[in-house]
Amino acid sequence: MKITSLMLSVLGVLLVAGLVFAGGDIQRGKALFDDPSLGTNGKSCSSCHPEGRGINGQKESFTIMGKKQATIEDAINFCIQNALKGQALSKDSPKMKDLAAYLKTLKGEKRKRKRIKGC
Ligand code: HEC
Repeated sequence: MKITSLMLSVLGVLLVAGLVFAGGDIQRGKALFDDPSLGTNGKSCSSCHPEGRGINGQKESFTIMGKKQATIEDAINFCIQNALKGQALSKDSPKMKDLAAYLKTLKGEKRKRKRIKGC
């Protein structure tokens, strides 16, 4: 019996830790959003989305430059590859999870300028 309860508590701890990691970290995501090292052209996400403007992370799917993106991870990779000229992130990488966690806090505030050049 003792072994069973020990195993259950170990499982419990692993589960909680898993949930914390699976969720991504909003603060780290925000830092990545300002980080030009995601790409190769010196731009960061916030070059075009200052304070996350123009992004509504609550949506189910996204359309960027006429191309439908089924998930927020696809939308993030589309902008990394096309706007930052960077390497796509794997969907379950910590960076992707952090970025997605931050973007999900954004509610689509309008940009000040409508058109953005360079993407
Ligand atoms: C060179 C400019 C540029 C950069 C840099 C850029 N984006 Fe975008 N992004 C756009 C444009 C243009 C759209 C299309 C929608 C629009 O016009 O508002 C868009 C749309 C999006 C959308 C969909 C928004 C929605 O609510 O439909 C997401 C999510 C997004 N970008 C994430 C990112 C992330 C994450 C980064 C950094 C890795 C990034 N973008 C960097 C220009 C850029």
